[in-house]
Amino acid sequence: MINAIDPTAYPGINGFLGTRASIMLDVVFVAMFAVLAVMAWSIYLVRYRQQYVLHKRIQLILGLVLLVTVTAFEVDMRLTEWELRAAASPHFVQDYSSATPAAAKWGSTVGKSLLVHLSFAVPTFALWVFVIIQGLRHFPNPPRPAPYSNRHKLWGRLAAFGMTMTSLTGWVFYYLAFVA
Ligand code: HEM
Repeated sequence: MINAIDPTAYPGINGFLGTRASIMLDVVFVAMFAVLAVMAWSIYLVRYRQQYVLHKRIQLILGLVLLVTVTAFEVDMRLTEWELRAAASPHFVQDYSSATPAAAKWGSTVGKSLLVHLSFAVPTFALWVFVIIQGLRHFPNPPRPAPYSNRHKLWGRLAAFGMTMTSLTGWVFYYLAFVA
């Protein structure tokens, strides 16, 4: 029987931040700070320094890093049953008797915060794929301003906003589920 209070009793490897989260959740939690900082730097470089080639390289590497991280994160969330690690949170399910387990889970504050997070994460993922593919197709190589610029700026800013919101809502979910 798993004791939700004992952090050594969870399945999977414990994280390094000293919370109830698994190692993958901690990796993603920390990685998102780096992703936001590097993305801000990349947009600064293209906007104020006209470093188009560097911007392209950074965004392609960020896209790859995100793809790997998100895949590892998804696998981890499914394999290690994050619900067991969230069970001790006062914001997770307190009373299973009144509803089905699924309804109780998604109705809890933790469940709702995960839904809010996913409602940013899923469209943002699609947006990044779109912005990168369209950028590669419509900008010359090496990249420089082109007739496509205005559309790229619009979608690029939306993609950057989506990533910022994905990180913020992810951190809120992490706190509610694994710290509180
Ligand atoms: C998800 C990936 C990407 C994001 C979020 C992104 C974001 C942005 C943003 C916000 C700007 C406008 C900066 C400003 O306010 O002036 C911009 C400019 C630019 N980006 Fe990207 N970008 C991405 C990928 C790419 C790729 C793959 C390429 C090249 C193939 C590229 C080439 C450019 C160029 C050439 C500009 C300058 C446009 C101009 O000033 O006329 N970007 N990007």
